[in-house]
Amino acid sequence: MTILVTGGAGFIGSNFVHYWVAHHPEDRIIVLDKLTYAGNLRNLESVANKIRFVKGDICDHELVFSLVKDVDRIVHFAAESHNDRAAMDPESFLRTNIFGTYNLLDAARQHQIKRFHHVSTDEVFGHLPLDGGSFNEQSLYAPRSIYPASKAASDHFVRAFYHTHGLPITISNCSNNYGPYHFPEKIIPLFICNLREGKKVPVYGDGLYVRDWIHVEDHCRGIEAILLKGRVGETYCLGGKESEISNLELTKKLLALTDRDESFIEYVKDRPGHDRRYSIDYSKAQRELGWEPTIGIDEGLKNTVDWYANHQAWVDEVRSGAYQDYYEKQYVTR
Ligand code: NAD
Ligand code: DAU
Repeated sequence: MTILVTGGAGFIGSNFVHYWVAHHPEDRIIVLDKLTYAGNLRNLESVANKIRFVKGDICDHELVFSLVKDVDRIVHFAAESHNDRAAMDPESFLRTNIFGTYNLLDAARQHQIKRFHHVSTDEVFGHLPLDGGSFNEQSLYAPRSIYPASKAASDHFVRAFYHTHGLPITISNCSNNYGPYHFPEKIIPLFICNLREGKKVPVYGDGLYVRDWIHVEDHCRGIEAILLKGRVGETYCLGGKESEISNLELTKKLLALTDRDESFIEYVKDRPGHDRRYSIDYSKAQRELGWEPTIGIDEGLKNTVDWYANHQAWVDEVRSGAYQDYYEKQYVTR
């Protein structure tokens, strides 16, 4: 089995590659990644001799068609993924998340691949009030900002290729991930890095926004379960193990884990159009796939803080920008 993993040098994609290499060593993995600011080849350093890495853009028709012809499955992670960047540079979100997904679908259809798994987000369903409710597979699409609007469009194209062309697709809509190799622009890695460096952490607005946190390893197991047992044409919602907390509660946990006090909290201007709450009902995945998350927030955060403490060289390269030279050193100049 040959699997094309798009965005495999990013946070979740690289965790998935590590997971797949460890659990399915008989499979071949090709990673296609443009190495935007979010892609870091260091994330794949320890599995470099077990995979093929191709630097390239999912919007590149010729490249994508030439790669897909030798592939059985595609697991599609590549995306612009950060809400705070979307308002400043919406076009790259539309281009990669919508057109790039379409390009992959078109290649997958022409080469009749066995499975196209699309990795999507719970943000496509909009947001929830603080006092209740959870997203599930029947939730209506109601994105409220650029990034989730572009992901919603990509989900629709994926389903359109299933209904129109019979492409064997599956989709997962997952909640907020955290864990190793998380780029320190998102709240958990940013706050861990700041606190370890003795800097304050910027809490947006009142800090009472709620997220449902899933450890990235649980997410990777969920995608594996969908690839192996999921029904073609279906969507599965994946969420965390009793890990719905406000940003302020999350920040206090991180303060405790890094031996800092509340004077390190800085309340800053809110994110425009900030979604109040996300929550996932993953009972369909539990029922049909036998999947459920296993890592609770306290255990997961402790492991994550420890991972950042034990990977100071990775943090230093990312914080200084030096990680972006690593591809040239490894692949171009040797
Ligand atoms: P990330 O930003 O860490 O990584 C994205 C990767 O895609 C990077 O390696 C980047 O170089 C690559 N990429 C970007 N544009 C590309 C292009 N045009 N061609 C090829 N490669 C390109 O993202 P992530 O947090 O790992 O998210 C991965 C996927 O999971 C995304 O589709 C995202 O929408 C989805 N998702 C993320 C979360 C989360 O909490 N992070 C939750 C649910 C779903
Ligand atoms: O729900 C899934 C989504 O989770 C994914 O689809 C996205 O790719 C991923 O980035 C994440 O989106 P969020 O916008 O929820 O993640 P972020 O880490 O940017 O923000 C989490 C919460 O923390 C949110 O309420 C905003 C707040 N925040 C964030 C940052 C970066 C702060 O208060 N301060 C910050 O500095």
